[in-house]
Amino acid sequence: MGVIHPEISIIADANSLSRAAAKLIVRQIGEQLQRKEYFAIALSGGSTPKSLFNLLAKEPAFNTQVPWDKIHFFWGDERHVPPDHPESNYRMANDTMLSKLPIPQENIHRVMSENSDADSAATQYEQELYAFFHLTKGQMPRFDCILLGMGPDGHTASLFPETSALLEKERLVIANWVEKFESYRITMTAPVFNNADCVIFMVSGEKKAETLQAVLQGEKQPYHFPAQLIQPAHGRLLWIIDRAAARNLNVQVGE
Ligand code: 6PG
Repeated sequence: MGVIHPEISIIADANSLSRAAAKLIVRQIGEQLQRKEYFAIALSGGSTPKSLFNLLAKEPAFNTQVPWDKIHFFWGDERHVPPDHPESNYRMANDTMLSKLPIPQENIHRVMSENSDADSAATQYEQELYAFFHLTKGQMPRFDCILLGMGPDGHTASLFPETSALLEKERLVIANWVEKFESYRITMTAPVFNNADCVIFMVSGEKKAETLQAVLQGEKQPYHFPAQLIQPAHGRLLWIIDRAAARNLNVQVGE
């Protein structure tokens, strides 16, 4: 596989980062809907995307530009908690964005994380992907956009360092036991992310600067820095980073 060259944008601060991501996503939606009927996006969880979701929901410059009935929402990963739990990635996206926009319920494809059996929840979600993308065994879904974050330990989605999920090459979605949380996470796998048309990492804050430099400019060690696994073979890889997170990178800092 050829070397993937990420497109790195260093943005002044967290608010500008969200605005830049919103502009990019709205533009991506416009371009993709020129040639297809729907736009499938997998959302990331955690805190970074909150202000992006708020912007997309509340700012007319964004929310009036999107035919929301053509947008299908998925999650790159989900915590093994019910959808109304404070830690639910679905709940965060619903509270900040989905509930505020005219999105048909059938366009919201959340993980059935209330299923007490994490493996079963993962299998259910995998079936949802097979059905939506009309896949046969061995095929990978091609998302129009995948939003990802990165933790200070270099994880992305729920692909955590030294966990079994990192080695998965065939499954689309698996339940990944994360020892430090003593809980399962349900996560899409690296092959799914790497089949996307566009992957956008949003990384903010100086706490991630050291790891970000190792991920982007250090030696390849994806078992320790899972974000390095994300190398879309036939798509764009964008890193939208604020200056605080970029401070250890040896690139020209600027917008
Ligand atoms: C999750 C996310 C996770 C997140 C990173 C960064 O379920 O928490 O999918 O991968 O993107 O942990 O989180 P922050 O944006 O909160 O730093």
